Amino acid sequence: MARSNTRYVCQSCGASSPKWSGKCDACGEWNTLVEEAVPESAPKGLGRTAGTGRRIDFVDLKGVSEKAPRRITGIAEYDRVCGGGMVPGSALLVGGDPGIGKSTLLLQVVCSLARNLRCAYISGEEAVDQVRMRASRLGTSESAVELAAATNVRDIVASLDAADAPGLCIIDSIQTMYVDTLDSAPGTVAQVRASAQELIRVAKRRGIILVLVGHVTKEGTIAGPRVLEHMVDTVLYFEGERGHQFRILRAVKNRFGPTDEIGVFEMTDSGLTEVSNPSELFLAERRGDVSGACVFAGLEGTRPVLVEIQALVAPSPLGTPRRAVVGWDSGRLAMVLAVLEARCGVAIGANDVYLNVAGGLRIGEPAADLAVAAALVSSLTGEPVPADTVVFGEIGLSGEIRAVSQTDVRLKEAAKLGFEKSLMPTQRSRKSGGRGDAGIRRIELAHLEDLIPM
Ligand code: TYD
Ligand code: MG
Repeated sequence: MARSNTRYVCQSCGASSPKWSGKCDACGEWNTLVEEAVPESAPKGLGRTAGTGRRIDFVDLKGVSEKAPRRITGIAEYDRVCGGGMVPGSALLVGGDPGIGKSTLLLQVVCSLARNLRCAYISGEEAVDQVRMRASRLGTSESAVELAAATNVRDIVASLDAADAPGLCIIDSIQTMYVDTLDSAPGTVAQVRASAQELIRVAKRRGIILVLVGHVTKEGTIAGPRVLEHMVDTVLYFEGERGHQFRILRAVKNRFGPTDEIGVFEMTDSGLTEVSNPSELFLAERRGDVSGACVFAGLEGTRPVLVEIQALVAPSPLGTPRRAVVGWDSGRLAMVLAVLEARCGVAIGANDVYLNVAGGLRIGEPAADLAVAAALVSSLTGEPVPADTVVFGEIGLSGEIRAVSQTDVRLKEAAKLGFEKSLMPTQRSRKSGGRGDAGIRRIELAHLEDLIPM
């Protein structure tokens, strides 16, 4: 029987199947299967005829290895997210929505780094003149960055695979690159995967820091590039709400540093500027004594971040009340509402509930539970949470308030910004009501009910 020489590859998860269907069986996405030619030679295993392999020399773990110094860009917010600078020979993937500012950020990064390292910026999306225009807008047009507009991976590899290769190379973006031995169009999983593989291989061989830019599709994964996440050493996402000028760079994977670290930037008309104290920025538009708002003392990576959580509880004209959440998990909101109702007798059920994290930050920490509950109760009763109070704590299903990590770091940040009191979980070691090292009055709650007469 003649073998079919095409297959269908899902552009979302990379799974392949022999026949087309509307829905990918592996990830459940619709309309993502694209026809691709099957590569000529299928893997055949080791076989019997190819001879034996060369023996590998094992070495001791405890030997001394030469540590290559990390490359510091001087943009502190970026360096911290990379784990204290970029490691030579490593590959980074910077993902984000189109238009969020990835090209701007990376151009600023290369221009800053070019002072002490040879840097190349290869654009597949913009012509050299357009990149120059952007640089002059950023005020960095004098820096010694080498520019090129190219999309053929064979050419790029040939240029990088030389003894005098640059120390850092930006590829903007990986979706525009293609390997000329493949038939599929640039941006397909096969092309993205093959291009990244070739580029990463030459970067590792020559000790080049390779930064790949990848666009996120509307489904929220980098296009095709779920497949890229495991090939690179570091994955950074650049995110932000449209209409807000704040941008957050978040490390979601890092082989050479901590994850969950964030860097905060502000988009201005001359590029991105660093925000070294994000709490001040997120609280800038806060109005003191309004009901339904409270300040959450959160933690992003190693850094404390204070943000305002706003809730609005309003009678619903609908049979099924609305639940709208921006910046938090809606499942978590449902849980807090259920616990308030079942354990504390606070009936919110028939009302519309809107929840918003001010400033466009997305919070993933369960420690925000108590702050959300306080904002909801405050909105329902019309009683403001005192303006000098921060709130944090995780809520359990029986209504108990659970301890969270890094209490002292949170309190210290709150004290720095002039807060006086903190509603928080009971601490095993300290007495309630006392002023800790941070100089903040601790009001410790054991159960969610303690919040209600507030
Ligand atoms: P860009 O870096 O091109 O986004 P990406 O590479 O992620 O697609 O950023 C584009 C947006 O940034 C665009 O809407 C204009 C805005 N911008 C500024 O506000 N100020 C600036 O100095 C620059 C260069 C861009
Ligand atoms: Mg771009």
